[in-house]
Amino acid sequence: MENSGLCRAHTNIALIKYWGKRDENLFLPMNSSLSLTLDAFYTDTKVTLEPTAEADTFYLNGVLQGEKETQKIANFIDLFRHEANNNSRVKVESYNHVPTAAGLASSASAFAALSGACRDAFNLELSTEVLSTFARRGSGSATRSLYGGFVEWNKGIDHDSLSSHAIPIDAADWDVAMLVIAVNTGEKKLSSRVGMKQTVETSAFYPAWVESAEKDLIAIKDAIQAQDFIRVGEITEANGMKMHGTMLGAIPPISYWEPESVKAFQKIQEIRAQGIPCYVTMDAGPNVKVLCQGSNIEKIKKILLKDFKPDQLITSGVGSGIQSLKLSDWTY
Ligand code: ADP
Ligand code: DP6
Ligand code: CO
Repeated sequence: MENSGLCRAHTNIALIKYWGKRDENLFLPMNSSLSLTLDAFYTDTKVTLEPTAEADTFYLNGVLQGEKETQKIANFIDLFRHEANNNSRVKVESYNHVPTAAGLASSASAFAALSGACRDAFNLELSTEVLSTFARRGSGSATRSLYGGFVEWNKGIDHDSLSSHAIPIDAADWDVAMLVIAVNTGEKKLSSRVGMKQTVETSAFYPAWVESAEKDLIAIKDAIQAQDFIRVGEITEANGMKMHGTMLGAIPPISYWEPESVKAFQKIQEIRAQGIPCYVTMDAGPNVKVLCQGSNIEKIKKILLKDFKPDQLITSGVGSGIQSLKLSDWTY
């Protein structure tokens, strides 16, 4: 019997954002969200059962993690231990091919990969949809990284009905891509978790955000179905900026922006005014993501090279869903 599980998951960037929980323990979101999975950024995770060990161990990028980080994933792995009725401790080895905690969605690929690896290590038969309800409880955005292309996370009714899960809605196999403008890939000071909690609890704009995000979701799904890139882009940019506006309304106000984020936003507006469709979105970090058409990406990059260094501009196509890896594929 196999006693390990290996899994790769890609990150995803939300076009309609998740920013706030209605239940913090169960990771039930205030509103449904929608994302695009990226192929340029991913996490590989290996979970090995260690039945004689007394505690879980966790290595991230080859470095043994301390108590706080280990406890965080141990609590998450408990969900799988419970499901499998197997109390074995595990060793987790994970490699991020994405900057950690920089607003580039490392928690999404991380908990999606960890979910897939736990499923395989504990020999559980779980559909991808049900597995997404597990991933959700590690990090909300991870729910969506189970699938490739455009993915919706249905906010659902409650946890027990397994209704708060991801659904793949479109393969995004048309002219869609993303360009990341890396402004600062260091670790953020305020985690997404704490930032969204503070926003829900104190921002006067919060109820309006939820109402407007639900409307944006309906509109973007319609635009995706019509493969109307411009409409998808316009809704994406507006939704992301509304989320940041809601954060500015928190007390104390929250801003993840840096001066170069503003510069990048302005440059994209200029490029758009020249007739090239491209739209900005940003998450809980200063890095700027540009939703564009793959057919224009090199043109956009060339213009941005006047203001940004080559290694700040990372292009990405559309990523696929989680994949189990073989031990022979594990090259670390
Ligand atoms: P991000 O914008 O990168 O998603 P978050 O604040 O949402 O930032 O989450 C970052 C946290 O996710 C890290 O501090 C760590 O606790 C967790 N994390 C990131 N990568 C991994 C990994 N490969 N395995 C387990 N946990 C991870
Ligand atoms: C701005 O999923 O990282 O990227 O559920 O607390 O782990 P937790 O937060 P996380 O939040 C992501 C916030 C966002 C928007 C999004 O990805 O939808
Ligand atoms: Co995150």
